[in-house]
Amino acid sequence: MSLVTRLRRRYLMSCAQAEELRVPFVLAPIHRRSPFLLRGRLRELGAADPEAFLRELDADGIHGLVAAAVDEYCRLVPQYAPGPGSVDSAEGALLYGLVRTLGPQAVVETGTASGISTTYLLAALRRNGAGRLISIDLPFEAVDGFDLRAFVPGATIAREDSSPLPPGREPGWAIPDELRARWDLHLGDARELLPALLGELGRIELFFHDSLHSREHMLFEFEAAWPHLVPGGMVVADDVFQREHDALTAFARAVERPFTTFGNLGIVVKQ
Ligand SMILES: C[S@@+](CC[C@H](N)C(=O)[O-])C[C@H]1O[C@@H](n2cnc3c(N)ncnc32)[C@H](O)[C@@H]1O
Repeated sequence: MSLVTRLRRRYLMSCAQAEELRVPFVLAPIHRRSPFLLRGRLRELGAADPEAFLRELDADGIHGLVAAAVDEYCRLVPQYAPGPGSVDSAEGALLYGLVRTLGPQAVVETGTASGISTTYLLAALRRNGAGRLISIDLPFEAVDGFDLRAFVPGATIAREDSSPLPPGREPGWAIPDELRARWDLHLGDARELLPALLGELGRIELFFHDSLHSREHMLFEFEAAWPHLVPGGMVVADDVFQREHDALTAFARAVERPFTTFGNLGIVVKQ
């Protein structure tokens, strides 16, 4: 089967199952290349001066640090090129801008792996001078080609779900030391850890999903996070087009809210 046929089958046909995602899917690669669309989406999501946030990212050298980490990842585990399964620079900038806009006390992330999204979130918290990021990750390390070693004893994962760490690296290894002060990391399955963590936090302003992208797991996380979001708070999910399902649209319908996308990110804002 040709690559084009496989892509059509994998994405376009599957998007027909989730009709509302067809147009956002086609737009995703354009979003990822257009600073104009990035600024527009940030403005729609409440940022008064998106340009200022993008200037900060440049001034703080965050894109450069992330690009160097991705290069290092590809050098250390070339079998997993083109990268650590992370958000790209435009999606990272959107996450950064949302945290700068919301000024959160608490952000929860599931799925850290090498720590690219985590870096963008923490860079924004540092600029805010307030708030914490609490991450949950079930990490795996690449050993001997495509074999995996679980950090959490007994954990298993399908290879395509894993985004493994380079040998000898810790989860979040790509996060610069100077950004770590506002970060807590919990290792384990989000299905087990997330409800109790959210219960302890009470209210959060932003929930970012980037762990297991099955429909069932995404809906589990969205539904767990939603009651804890403050009005104006957001669920943001990465890779909403990666699997052949409609978790984002089904969730948006269930909570009677519109969804929006930017690149591969899906966003639902609570009223
Ligand atoms: C796509 S990677 C995260 C990438 C990261 N957000 C970034 O931008 O660099 C997904 C991570 O979620 C982890 N994961 C998979 N299933 C999980 C689960 N049930 N609970 C928590 N983490 C999980 C994977 O092992 C991996 O470390």
